[in-house]
Amino acid sequence: MCGIVGYIGDGNAKDIIIDGLKRLEYRGYDSAGIAVHKDGNLVVRKHIGRISNLEDMIQGENLDSPVGIGHTRWATHGAPSDINAHPHSSRDGRIAVVHNGIIENYVKLKQWLRENHNIEFKSETDTEVIAQLIGVFYDGDLLDAVYKAVDMMEGAYAIGVIAADEPDKIVAVRRDAPLIVGLGNNCNFIASDIPALLKHVRKIYLIENNETVVITKNSAKILNEERKEVKRDVFNVTWDADAAEKEGYDHFMLKEIHEQPKGIYETLMRRLDENDSIKLDGITLTKEELDKINKIYIVACGTAYHAGLVGKYAIEKFAKIPVEVDVASEFRYRDPFVDENTLFIAVSQSGETLDTLAALREAKSKGARILSVVNVVGSSVARESDDVFYTWAGPEIAVASTKAYTTQLICMYLIALYMAVLKGSITEDYYKFVMDELKALPEKLEELLKKEKDIEEIAKSQYKRECVFFIGRGSDVGVSYEGSLKLKEISYINSFAIAAGELKHGTIALIEQGTLVIALATQDKLYDKMLSNIQEVKARGAYVIGLAKESNKEIEAQANDVIYIPDCADEVTPILAVVPLQILAYYIAKLRGCDIDKPKNLAKSVTVE
Ligand code: F6R
Repeated sequence: MCGIVGYIGDGNAKDIIIDGLKRLEYRGYDSAGIAVHKDGNLVVRKHIGRISNLEDMIQGENLDSPVGIGHTRWATHGAPSDINAHPHSSRDGRIAVVHNGIIENYVKLKQWLRENHNIEFKSETDTEVIAQLIGVFYDGDLLDAVYKAVDMMEGAYAIGVIAADEPDKIVAVRRDAPLIVGLGNNCNFIASDIPALLKHVRKIYLIENNETVVITKNSAKILNEERKEVKRDVFNVTWDADAAEKEGYDHFMLKEIHEQPKGIYETLMRRLDENDSIKLDGITLTKEELDKINKIYIVACGTAYHAGLVGKYAIEKFAKIPVEVDVASEFRYRDPFVDENTLFIAVSQSGETLDTLAALREAKSKGARILSVVNVVGSSVARESDDVFYTWAGPEIAVASTKAYTTQLICMYLIALYMAVLKGSITEDYYKFVMDELKALPEKLEELLKKEKDIEEIAKSQYKRECVFFIGRGSDVGVSYEGSLKLKEISYINSFAIAAGELKHGTIALIEQGTLVIALATQDKLYDKMLSNIQEVKARGAYVIGLAKESNKEIEAQANDVIYIPDCADEVTPILAVVPLQILAYYIAKLRGCDIDKPKNLAKSVTVE
């Protein structure tokens, strides 16, 4: 997804911005560009493809300047191209704009600009409309022109703007797309994401919706819609810059897979007191409030949705409250029954996924209480929720989610157990049993990660497959969906997941000689049923990789290969079972020569519909 970086100060804006953009590469992009002040004018350079293409383009050119804005674009309006890349300029080239998000009324605005100001557009983008609008309103006061333009714009966006005649400032606006200000010494920054600035600053302002920012070398002002200055507490970023680097792993994805024991430990142990009672920081739901809740929706997209499927299982089992899980893009348009007795749980790594945010707003407008499970602190989903429960996974850079998923699962268990205790629907002994199982997970996960080499060997024998099925029962169904998504998104293999009991209702027709089936059989109570399902597919020629608990060895007689997870209670297997599937997907994608951390067509943070 698009990234914004802007800089003003004593340093060289071009170098600082390009470095910042590189740190946002993980968001996914198709072109990059930069605009800097130079000798009373604005110089704009942009190029389709990687940031390195832009660097090659400007190599040898003197673009040294104390102020500039830069952008990585992920196409929405208009195909990826040099012309459509940002920054975009006003007709006279004296205003430059970078923009994340979408201007929904851009067609109307384009027409207005054509009819009233004879503007000819160079690109197909909605962003150029912003630059032209600001251009026609500009009469020496950039801030005023930006306010006037924003007044006419509808949609969800963050913009950064510079003007040739005001080299002492950058103006930025946030409406429903992330924007932060970085506070440095003799310099200030704007950016769409914290990692872009980590090398330079630790102190930031989190900009709220409908706020406008003016930064100069020595000041950073936040203004509201009435142009009044608002005060904001400084947010101190505690992440280590190294946490956003690969630390010796070939890919961020592998590094993040290995960070899961730590992520799980942090997410769990920070919420337990010395008696293992759960303290849910950020959640104020009381027993009286919970007693009124008669329906829970868990709503999310992609991997986060798969975490929701396991959340349903945990909440229904422990807290005995009915739960419906929905993909956000469906929930928001299907007029679901929601009222003040509904609890809406949004799950999102980035906290910026537009569909999840829109579904959240829909539920909120109907009176639901909003609880979110989010990784990115201060993100939009977090800010718009009544209660926020953070996953402590740390920054997730690889597009394919791994550690965010397993920490989301921990949050789901904690929320389910917390509710169960409030409602009195769990015995002390059973609570203790599940809690002990959860606490044992980081160590078991470390043990499991030692099997990486064995899983790599399996990948070597399977990476040429073109069609893979994942099957499972009970809580293994959600994990099958997640294993399948991991494989397809990074290796581009056509992969499909289905509840094993559903196979014979149609899908089994596709199983033939050599089809690869990955059979999850981690649930003791459903183990025999899964062995039968394995027999069914084997009888039709499938090659089966089984996944089972260490002690359940009967599977060896059925499956061609078996990956074992450490013994644990059925209740917590999803957290262990997904990890071998992540590793398998990783090595298969690596052997196929895929761009693992930045798979084609995908973005880390999907802030468009
Ligand atoms: C897949 C993946 C996506 C995200 C989805 C939601 O590996 O990462 O499916 O889970 O786009 O993103 P968040 O969690 O940021 O709302």
